[in-house]
Amino acid sequence: MSAAARTSPLQVIIVFTAAIMAIGRYGGGASTGIPGVSSFVAPAGYPTSAFSSYYPSPSGQEPQPALYDPVLNITFPRNLTNPDTLPDNDPDPVYYPQPIANLSVAAQQAVIKSILAEVSEIINGSSIQGNCSKCIAALSVAKSAAQLAPSLVPAAMVALCTSSGFHSASTCAEDFEASTFGAIWTQVLGLADVAGLDGQYICSSLSTSFCPAPGVSPLNMTGLFPKPKPANAKKPKASGKLVKVLHMSDFHLDPRYKVGSESNCSSGLCCRSNALNTAIPAGHVSNSAPLYGAFTCDTPYDLGLAALQAVGPMTGTRKSNPLAWTVYTGDLVSHESQNELSRLYAEYEEDSIYGMLKTYLTGPVYPALGNHDTNPEAIDAPHSLPGPLGTQFSWNYDHVAGLWQHEGWLNSTGAEQARLHYGGYSVKNQYGLRVITINTDFWYKANFLNYINTADSDVSGTFAFLIQELQAAEDAGERVWIVGHVLSGWDGSNPLPNPTNLFYQIVDRYSPHVIANIFFGHTHEDQQMIYYANNGTNQSLSTALTPGWIGPSVTPLNNLNSGFRLYEVDTATFDIYEAYTFYANVSAFPSLPSTQGPTYNFEYSTRATYGPAAKWPADAPLNATFWHAVTEAMEADHSLVSTFNTLQGKMSVRTPNCTCEACVDAKICYIRSGSVALGRACPQGWGSVQSPYKAKC
Ligand SMILES: *[C@@H]1O[C@H](CO)[C@@H](O)[C@H](O)[C@H]1NC(C)=O
Ligand SMILES: *[C@@H]1O[C@H](CO)[C@@H](O)[C@H](O)[C@H]1NC(C)=O
Ligand SMILES: *[C@@H]1O[C@H](CO)[C@@H](O)[C@H](O)[C@H]1NC(C)=O
Ligand SMILES: *[C@@H]1O[C@H](CO)[C@@H](O)[C@H](O)[C@H]1NC(C)=O
Ligand SMILES: *[C@@H]1O[C@H](CO)[C@@H](O)[C@H](O)[C@H]1NC(C)=O
Ligand SMILES: *[C@@H]1O[C@H](CO)[C@@H](O)[C@H](O)[C@H]1NC(C)=O
Ligand SMILES: *[C@@H]1O[C@H](CO)[C@@H](O)[C@H](O)[C@H]1NC(C)=O
Ligand SMILES: *[C@@H]1O[C@H](CO)[C@@H](O)[C@H](O)[C@H]1NC(C)=O
Ligand SMILES: *[C@@H]1O[C@H](CO)[C@@H](O)[C@H](O)[C@H]1NC(C)=O
Ligand SMILES: *[C@@H]1O[C@H](CO)[C@@H](O)[C@H](O)[C@H]1NC(C)=O
Ligand SMILES: *[C@@H]1O[C@H](CO)[C@@H](O)[C@H](O)[C@H]1NC(C)=O
Ligand SMILES: *[C@@H]1O[C@H](CO)[C@@H](O)[C@H](O)[C@H]1NC(C)=O
Repeated sequence: MSAAARTSPLQVIIVFTAAIMAIGRYGGGASTGIPGVSSFVAPAGYPTSAFSSYYPSPSGQEPQPALYDPVLNITFPRNLTNPDTLPDNDPDPVYYPQPIANLSVAAQQAVIKSILAEVSEIINGSSIQGNCSKCIAALSVAKSAAQLAPSLVPAAMVALCTSSGFHSASTCAEDFEASTFGAIWTQVLGLADVAGLDGQYICSSLSTSFCPAPGVSPLNMTGLFPKPKPANAKKPKASGKLVKVLHMSDFHLDPRYKVGSESNCSSGLCCRSNALNTAIPAGHVSNSAPLYGAFTCDTPYDLGLAALQAVGPMTGTRKSNPLAWTVYTGDLVSHESQNELSRLYAEYEEDSIYGMLKTYLTGPVYPALGNHDTNPEAIDAPHSLPGPLGTQFSWNYDHVAGLWQHEGWLNSTGAEQARLHYGGYSVKNQYGLRVITINTDFWYKANFLNYINTADSDVSGTFAFLIQELQAAEDAGERVWIVGHVLSGWDGSNPLPNPTNLFYQIVDRYSPHVIANIFFGHTHEDQQMIYYANNGTNQSLSTALTPGWIGPSVTPLNNLNSGFRLYEVDTATFDIYEAYTFYANVSAFPSLPSTQGPTYNFEYSTRATYGPAAKWPADAPLNATFWHAVTEAMEADHSLVSTFNTLQGKMSVRTPNCTCEACVDAKICYIRSGSVALGRACPQGWGSVQSPYKAKC
C-alpha cells in the first residue's frame, strides 16, 4: 500500500533556551536546569515514516497504518480501525462456569423463569428489609441460575436490570449482555460466596446504595515473608552517575479518531463518527474534533506521534546518547464502549503502540499492563479459577510477552514470566536495576472476577511472585523498581482494600533498602504517593520509606493536557535526583495553523518546584523523605498545594482551583496514602482535577 496522501513539511522548529545536559557526574549539587530544549514544535501532519505501510484514508482524516503483527502473523484489517465502520458487537468467545447438572434447554429456561420471579419478589416484596440484605438475598437465589443454566443468565440479567429500572435499557445491555460483561458476571455469580463477604463486595460494586463498601479483612502475616526484615540493611552508595529514564503512561491511542466529528459529545467517547451532542440539532457539530486531539477525546495518531517526536529533543537524548530505559505504566486502548471493543482491537493497539515506542524511544522499555489492555475492559482471571476459566486471558499475556520479546525488551525468560504472571515480569537491566512489573487489575475494583474469594488478598498469586522476586533481590543486594498501572492508594477510590493492604506490608518489608521507587499511571494526572513504615500509622520524616510516582498521561482525556516525564537516576542506588515533566496545551489545538503540529513545553522540575520550600539539600535524592518534607512544607504554605494542583492537571485551562483549606488538607492526605485504607480515611471529593471538585469548600 502507498503512503498516506498527506505529507508533512519537514520543518522542525526547535527552541533552545538551555544547553543540552550531558549525562555525567554531579558534584556538589544535583543537576539543575532542563535536560533538552524547553519547547518543541512538532512538524505539521503525520510522519508517514512511522509505519511501513498504509491503507488509503480520506483526505483530512488520519492515515491508517496497515499493521503487521509479528506474534499473530496477521495484518490487521482496514475496517478494524476505519473511523466510519465502528463495530457494535464484540465477536470474541465467552466463558461460563461449568454447570453442576446437565439440564435440557427447556429445564434451564424453567429454572431462569422461576429464579427471576423469586428475585423480583425479593426486590419488590417486604419479606426482606434493607437494600443490602435484599441484594445479597437476590444474589443467593440467582447463584443457582449461574450453576444450572449459565448461558441463559446474561439475558436474564439484562431483563431484570431493565424491568427494575436499575439502568436505562441500553446501559443494562452494555453492562450485562453476554458479549460485554454478562458472561463475566455469570462466572462471579457461580463461583463467589455470594451470601458472605463476596456478596457485599458485589452489591456495593453494583451500587453503594445497595451495600456499603467493605473495609480491610484481617491479613494473616504469619509466614508471609520468607525472612524477617534485616535489622541494619544497607543501601548501596550512590555512584554519582546519573542516567535519563523516561516515564510514559496512558497513551490511549484512538485509531478510529474522526477529524471534524463532535468533540463535545453527550455520552461515550467523543471525536468519533457516532459521537453526538444531544443539546444541538441532529446533523450539526458544536465543537469540531481538531486533527491533534481534544479535552474529551483520546489520542489521535497525530498527537501520539508528536509526543514521541518531542521526547528526544526535550530530554536531550538521541540514538548516540540514548535513554537508559523507559517505564510505561499501562493503558494503550481507547476509552470506548465495550461493544466496540474486541481482542483484535486490543492486539492492534498493543502492536501499534509498542511498535511506535520501539521506533521513537532509545533504550529498552518496561511496560506494565493497564486495565484497558485486555478485553473485556479491566477483566483478568486468576489461574485458580476452575478449568478453562483460569486461562481465559492467556491470549493477551501470550501476545504482549511475544511483542516485548520481539522488540528486544525482554529475553525468553522474562517473556515466559509474563505469560505466566498475567503480563508481570522481573528483569535485571543493563545497569543492574531489577524492574518488577505487576498486573494491577488484581486489585482494580472494575475487574469483577476479583469478587470471587475477596477475603484472600492474593487470589492470583501476583503478590507471592512479587515477594519471591523481592526476597531474591534482597539476597542478591539488588535495588528494585516496581511498575504497575492502577495506583495502590491516593483517595482509595480505584483499588480494593485487601490486596493494597497486602501490598503496603510488602513495600514496608522491602523498603527502603530494596525498593527504590514505585510507578503507576491510570488517573492520567500528575500525582504522588508516599509509603511509610508501620502500616502508615505514624507519618513523619523518619518513617517515610518509598515514593510512588504517578505519571501523567499522553491522552488529554478528560480536560487534561498531554504529558510525559523524564527522571535522572543514580546508577547504583536507583534513587531519583530530578524529575522533569513536559506537556502540550490542548486548548491550543483547535487554532493551530496548518503549517505546525502541537507544541510540547517544559512544564517543571520537581526539585526546583518543591526543593527550596522543603529545605531539601541539593545533593540529596528525591526520595520518600523528600516527599514527606514537601507535604510538611505544604502544610505551612498552602500556595504549594495550589502549585501541585495546577501541575496535577498538567497546566490545563480546565483544572479547577485548589485554594480552600478543605482541598489543601485532602491533597496532603492523599499524597500520604499508599493504600485504600489510608486513602479512604482522607476527606473525599478532591482526588481528580478532571471536572469541578465534587466537594465544597
Ligand atoms: C504466516 O502466515 C502466512 C499466511 O498468511 C503463512 O504462509 C506463513 O507460513 C505464516 N508464518 C508463520 C511463521 O507462521
Ligand atoms: C470487517 O470485515 C470483516 C470481514 O469482512 C467482517 O467480518 C467484520 O465484521 C468487519 N468489521 C467491521 C467492524 O465492519
Ligand atoms: C454433563 O455432560 C457432559 C458431557 O456428556 C459431561 O462431561 C459432564 O460431566 C456432565 N456434567 C454433569 C454435572 O453431569
Ligand atoms: C416491581 O414492581 C413494579 C411495579 O409493579 C414493576 O414495575 C417492576 O417491574 C417490579 N420489579 C421487578 C424487579 O419485578
Ligand atoms: C436503596 O436503593 C434504592 C434504589 O437504588 C435507592 O433509591 C435508595 O436510596 C436505597 N436506600 C438506601 C437506604 O440506600
Ligand atoms: C496463618 O498462616 C500460617 C502460615 O501459613 C498458618 O499456619 C496459620 O494457620 C494461619 N493463621 C490463620 C489464623 O489463618
Ligand atoms: C458542550 O455542550 C454542552 C451542551 O450543549 C454545553 O453546555 C457546553 O457549554 C459545551 N462545551 C463547550 C466547551 O462547548
Ligand atoms: C534473561 O535475563 C535475566 C536477567 O533479567 C537473566 O537472569 C536470564 O538468565 C536471561 N535469560 C536468558 C535466556 O538469557
Ligand atoms: C512518630 O514518629 C515521630 C518521629 O520519629 C516521633 O517523634 C513521634 O513520637 C511518633 N509518634 C507516634 C504516635 O508514634
Ligand atoms: C532520603 O535521602 C536523605 C538524604 O540522603 C536520607 O537522609 C534519607 O534517609 C533518605 N530517605 C530514605 C527513605 O531512604
Ligand atoms: C483559578 O484561579 C485563577 C486565579 O485566581 C483564575 O484566573 C482561574 O480562572 C481559576 N480557574 C478556575 C477553573 O476556576
Ligand atoms: C493497616 O492499616 C489499615 C488502616 O489504615 C488497617 O485497616 C489494616 O488492617 C492494617 N494492616 C495491617 C496488616 O495491620
